[in-house]
Amino acid sequence: MADRDRLIFTSIGNPNTALSSPPKGKMMETEAPVTSSAVEQHRHEFPILGFHHVEFWVGNAYQAAHYYRAIHGYSIVGYRGPETGVRDRASYALQQGHVRLILTSTLEPTGAIADHFKLHGPGVRDVAIHVPDAEASLEHVVENGAEVVAKAAVAEDDRGKWKSAAIKAYGDTIHSLIENPDTMWPPPGFRVRSDSIARSIGLERIDHVVANVMLGDMDRWVEFYERVFGFVLLRHFDDEAISTEYSALMSKVVWDGTGVIRLPINEPATGLHKSQIEEYLDFYRSPGVQHLAIATSDLVATVTAGRERGLGLMSVPDSYYEEVPTRVPDLNVDVETIKRLGILVDQDDGGYLLQIFTRMMQDRPTFFFEFIERRGAIGFGEGNFKALFEAIERDQAARGNL
Ligand code: FE2
Repeated sequence: MADRDRLIFTSIGNPNTALSSPPKGKMMETEAPVTSSAVEQHRHEFPILGFHHVEFWVGNAYQAAHYYRAIHGYSIVGYRGPETGVRDRASYALQQGHVRLILTSTLEPTGAIADHFKLHGPGVRDVAIHVPDAEASLEHVVENGAEVVAKAAVAEDDRGKWKSAAIKAYGDTIHSLIENPDTMWPPPGFRVRSDSIARSIGLERIDHVVANVMLGDMDRWVEFYERVFGFVLLRHFDDEAISTEYSALMSKVVWDGTGVIRLPINEPATGLHKSQIEEYLDFYRSPGVQHLAIATSDLVATVTAGRERGLGLMSVPDSYYEEVPTRVPDLNVDVETIKRLGILVDQDDGGYLLQIFTRMMQDRPTFFFEFIERRGAIGFGEGNFKALFEAIERDQAARGNL
């Protein structure tokens, strides 16, 4: 492993990331030197507590909320709409472990949400970031070139208050900066609901959020996160690493230096046929969030519970599992079990990870979820890219888009 990576992990001591070298595969060196002092300086300038929540703008938030409760195990913990004095939209706040989602749909034929839905279909509007001081954070990002979507404002109800601001990110996506000292959830203004029906499938927290951007734009967005948030480049995968016979992509991962924020950014690369990133861009009609990875500490239990409820998952060819004992000698789970459940597995020097990808969450081939269990590994399943892409391409071919 590179000394600078070791410096980060030893200086910060993140319990979620064991000391590790980069995963196997054709990974290129990070471009900017990362030192522990650089990370400490960044943390001083722009302290970040982690992902706060993710808001989706969808066509029918009521039904989406019930889908995520029934299949993914989220509790519906809050509601905001006409009954609470909001006339133009309805929102449902969901929670499972530390994962917080908002699903919003418009009640009107025009306006920002209607326009967003018409263009993109259902999708992520806001990847909200938890900060200790919204005003100071906004000042810092604006000084570094961020475009303001919402100035800092206080929202409150009889439960308490929080402060938030928002800036523009890729496409129509925004980053809210949420100062929420009492960790209120649902947000102020929502009517609190108790949910006795939901049964968790063990989802615990957001591990990473992946963006797809236009061809040639990946470096520009990496530079944006470096400049605006002080993030640093963690990984760089070239198109040879992440390619199949047919399609390819390039990916760079920026992170906050501690592991509470990890943002892979993909752009399409040339293959024999249309890349899956291109397919996303064609149907989402702009850059946007491709998937959210949610961490669980027991992926076998999560997937078993999900499958019992009809959770749609990407299929994996049986042949994938023949190499698993060689590729992942430390694996502590029965290969037949992960084969039956369709779980992927990858190893780096820190340990291994288990991961699985859902089918698309809507009719457009745009957004999906990943569930991930890290057993020491800090990568993103690079060794699985080929197997994963082959699975994705089978589905893409079935839609006539390959
Ligand atoms: Fe991922």
